[in-house]
Amino acid sequence: MRILAFETTCDETSAGVLENGKILSNVVFSQIKIHRRYKGVVPELASRAHAEKIALVLKKALSDAGIPVPLFRKKLIDAVVYARGPGLPGALLVGRTAAETAAKIFGSKLIGVNHLEGHLLAYEFEGGRIKRNLDFPLIALIVSGGHTELWRVRGYGRYEALGRTRDDAAGEAFDKVAKLLGLDYPGGPAVEKEAAKCRRYSVEFPRPCLKDTFDFSFSGLKTAVAYYLRDKSQVAGRRSQVTRYKIQDKEISEICASFQEAVVDTLVFKALAAVEKFRTRRLIIGGGVAANSRLREKFAQAAVSRAIPVGFAEKEYCTDNAAMIALCGYRRLLTGKKFLNAVDVDSELKIENWK
Ligand code: KG4
Ligand code: ZN
Repeated sequence: MRILAFETTCDETSAGVLENGKILSNVVFSQIKIHRRYKGVVPELASRAHAEKIALVLKKALSDAGIPVPLFRKKLIDAVVYARGPGLPGALLVGRTAAETAAKIFGSKLIGVNHLEGHLLAYEFEGGRIKRNLDFPLIALIVSGGHTELWRVRGYGRYEALGRTRDDAAGEAFDKVAKLLGLDYPGGPAVEKEAAKCRRYSVEFPRPCLKDTFDFSFSGLKTAVAYYLRDKSQVAGRRSQVTRYKIQDKEISEICASFQEAVVDTLVFKALAAVEKFRTRRLIIGGGVAANSRLREKFAQAAVSRAIPVGFAEKEYCTDNAAMIALCGYRRLLTGKKFLNAVDVDSELKIENWK
């Protein structure tokens, strides 16, 4: 079974081909350069960049996969899959239009899937193919720029929501704190790089653990960083504007390390509590923030000490990519579940059980 997939939910334009569980191509054009100077994704610029790049990205994905271009023929592709949400509306429309067009040209099925399910299933990839067993029932933690969600998963398409962030997502908190500190965009890798220079967690930031719930909240933590900087600037006798205070390099790495530690501790605490409460076999973690080395290290330590098998998506498949979207379509087709043939997009799409 050969699947062509498109991912355009946010700031990565991606297309790829999956053949019987093997990734033949996974081309990702990152828009980082476009959004960097705004220190965040500008939706209008994202849509335009997707529209400009999608044809090139598709062409490369097909040629990397050894599919003749431009000699499109029927039956070369069994299904075209696209991420129909959640994401930026304009960006989603570009992916949908490309997918619809490709499906017509190839005479193949068209399947709209959930981007977050892609992050969840990406754990299955190892060394460029589907190799790992999901070992249901499991707990899945999705930590990305727009979402932080904890799911109990009993099988493909059998989900139960346990918790989600009530305000900022973990990745969003990384991005906002990076901006406060004048670091690069995207904030996650920039904060991680600074944090790696320091192994002292000297600044006491709160661990935002809401009681009796698996929900998360990260906006207070971001505000704590802002207040910390404001207080510093007052001590320094300057006006209480965060940006007016000139932070020393050493302080930046201390703040980054302490902030990162607070995020990681919260995620580890909640995710492992869920595994223990529901006595599931395993915990899997995906999404852009799952690329963070300190997060991987602390989860791995906790996994050993509490004898809980914890698995991460490979770093390449943590951030947005078309291979994980193809994987969603592949799983849907294999389970024989009805697929979504509607050519819609839904910027607020939630993970739902497969019908
Ligand atoms: O999954 P993703 O590529 O896109 C969304 O679906 O949102 O995640 C992007 C997010 C950004 O907020 C980025 O700062 C964060 O993931 N991120 C990281 C790291 N790499 C990416 N956060 C922490 N540490 C990282 N190494
Ligand atoms: Zn994502």
